[in-house]
Amino acid sequence: MTAIPELELETKEKILIVDDEEAIRNLFVEALSSLGYRCEVAENGLDCLAKYYESSDYDVVLLDVQMPELGGIETLKKLKKYAPDLSIIIVSASRDIDNVRTALKEGAYDYIFKPFNINDVQAVIRRAVERAQLIKKNKDYQHNLEKKVENQTQELVNLYSGTLQAMILALDLRESETGYHSYRVTEYALTLGRHMELSESELSMLAKGALLHDIGKIGVPDSILLKPGKLTDEEWKIMRKHAELGYTMLKKIEFLEESAALVYSHHEHFNGKGYPKGLSGTEIPLGARIFSIVDAFDAMTSKRAYRDEMPFEKAVERIIEASGTQFDPDIVEVFAKIDLSIWKDIKENIDESGSNFLKGLLFELSKYN
Ligand SMILES: [Fe+2]
Ligand SMILES: [Fe+2]
Repeated sequence: MTAIPELELETKEKILIVDDEEAIRNLFVEALSSLGYRCEVAENGLDCLAKYYESSDYDVVLLDVQMPELGGIETLKKLKKYAPDLSIIIVSASRDIDNVRTALKEGAYDYIFKPFNINDVQAVIRRAVERAQLIKKNKDYQHNLEKKVENQTQELVNLYSGTLQAMILALDLRESETGYHSYRVTEYALTLGRHMELSESELSMLAKGALLHDIGKIGVPDSILLKPGKLTDEEWKIMRKHAELGYTMLKKIEFLEESAALVYSHHEHFNGKGYPKGLSGTEIPLGARIFSIVDAFDAMTSKRAYRDEMPFEKAVERIIEASGTQFDPDIVEVFAKIDLSIWKDIKENIDESGSNFLKGLLFELSKYN
């Protein structure tokens, strides 16, 4: 005959019994242990706090009111501060309603009057334990939910990053001459944006727009995009379409939607002489007004097949010269105050580690998303 396994009596709930009278402690321990609860005892309030701080995995605390050292009500207050969800049952010697009222007001879960009937005590404990279990379940659920949201957010960020990388790669494969232009202007734009004290979400929008500002060039034919000589008027017309093309692409992707406005307006001039709309002043989105400065700045300070790079000092002068015509004078003012070494550092770092830079940038962007 197979042996029938013994029923698991251990419920595992842990109860801390706090009473200065040994006889009462023993009575509780005996009754509750027989029900499968794990019991520990403390002789007074101070002892209780010490035990709780040492190991806070108690589900229920039985707390006597009249105790030397630290009384029940004071102990309750301290415990509640430390563990607001803890189920604490007050054990009051007299039928002192005032004490009970105070205890309940201070967050005690229930109370027992001495002398007590052990059956009644069991019922109170069971309720308190059930409450503790419910709280624990809710906390676990909350924690799992947070974890799930965190994982999903990370998945989305990865998806975003992958989309961004694929788009940049697609453009780079078409037009390799400009090197790390997109990466540099993104970092430049973030720098200027921070000096303009933009919010985190504005910075994110700015960075994504900067990174993809010329993505519409994917739609420009090779014969124009890669033409070694000067473009004809007709060809320029097609080339200029890249702003609108980029906008059309990005506005279809939810997380890039806001950046689409920057892409659309990145060739507008403050005096209204830019394209595609000929917007002027604050009609041009702020992100585009910030971006156009660093875009021109990077174009001037980068080497091209047909010309050398311009020194940073000179490029800043050129930007200042175009303040009020091509660029927003308020933003130029902020730009001109930024130490040249900051731009130089960015440029050097990107040249040395282009792909690492992108990884860092995507990480940076993931914080804003
Ligand atoms: Fe462009
Ligand atoms: Fe550009």
